[in-house]
Amino acid sequence: MLTIEQNELLTRIGRGTPMGGLIRRYWVPALLAEQLPEPDCDPVRVKLLGEPLVAFRDTLGRIGLLQELCPHRTASLFFGRNEECGIRCIYHGWKFDVEGNCVDVPTEPPTSTIKERVKARAYPCIERGGLIWTYMGPADQRPEFPAIEWTELPASHCLVTRQLLECNWFQGFEGGFDSSHLSFLHKGDLLASYSLPTHTEFVPTDSGFVYAYGRDENGQTMWTTDTMLMPFHKLIAAALFQSQIWVPIDDETTMLYCVTYHPDRPMSADELSAYASGNRIHAVKEVGSDRMAHNRDNNYGIDRSLQRSGKSFSGMKGIGVQDSAIQESMGLIADRSVEFLVTSDISVVQLRRYLQRAIEDEQAGREIPGTDPKSFHLRPVYQAAPNDVPFSDIFPTAAFPPAV
Ligand code: FES
Ligand SMILES: [Fe+2]
Repeated sequence: MLTIEQNELLTRIGRGTPMGGLIRRYWVPALLAEQLPEPDCDPVRVKLLGEPLVAFRDTLGRIGLLQELCPHRTASLFFGRNEECGIRCIYHGWKFDVEGNCVDVPTEPPTSTIKERVKARAYPCIERGGLIWTYMGPADQRPEFPAIEWTELPASHCLVTRQLLECNWFQGFEGGFDSSHLSFLHKGDLLASYSLPTHTEFVPTDSGFVYAYGRDENGQTMWTTDTMLMPFHKLIAAALFQSQIWVPIDDETTMLYCVTYHPDRPMSADELSAYASGNRIHAVKEVGSDRMAHNRDNNYGIDRSLQRSGKSFSGMKGIGVQDSAIQESMGLIADRSVEFLVTSDISVVQLRRYLQRAIEDEQAGREIPGTDPKSFHLRPVYQAAPNDVPFSDIFPTAAFPPAV
């Protein structure tokens, strides 16, 4: 349980909020690279951390991410013309380059100094792992791009999808670390059947933490991990490795990016189709949209006879739909002052405490986790060990991929 103030602290991400300030110290996925397929292609609307933005790829292939509203009289630059290394507002023709510099003001005489005095807010962008990432924090605190393993792999080794989550980012993130739900919500859909863990260990790292769950299997302990990377990434190991990223669009909406990857080889055709949107893990989406076809407007397609049959614990089809249904059902921003936590919620409690501490450090001007980009170079663990070996003993060899 949290106080109302603690709940506000962890959930609100607008400019000027403590959590918003913390997240803005890291590189944030803004959109899929394929949304800007070529130079001078159509601009794309992007909302990120509560800020309406427009993304475009200019004539030289550079990416611009600008405030959506034109600095002149606040018309949307989304309708702008993407031409000759800049985006031109269609209201009065002012033009801005990828750095937000005003490069043409055709409504003013050539002698005017308006151009030097006007600037659109612009965020630097970088393309990695099939995504376009941006940094929205103070320029003098911009970190190097984190060495997250899948962002360094060839495109053939990864599959990146995304879907809209219609609630606050933090309840999605918490859901990612709530391991006790695997034995219930997803029963009937997971390939492995998950018993409740017999041991758990929390291991802090330089970029977040690892939550390890041990389950008894054939006289050994099978360890799996939820690896948290600041500020909103989770890595897990299943048949393939997976990463999920809960990127706040605004306080009440989240873009969930899912990355499935193999560190050593290209994904096979079977794997690509198994993990594409619309399969048993990822939700089927509405045409031309990131919204799930099964959403709150149709009760996520819940099938009561399927639920009764025992074949599916939830009666909903697809793990992604089940997670979204439950997380969205908690409200746009879950009220954690009325919940009732128990022992099996320990990983959720640890996640909250960890982020609360990181917010305090950020606010106090102390160092925050993950300032060293190499500290993100972690692999999720799925490994058996003798029962008397603690996870912290296998972690140093199991969790670090070869250096690049
Ligand atoms: S509002 Fe954009 S040029 Fe006038
Ligand atoms: Fe889940």
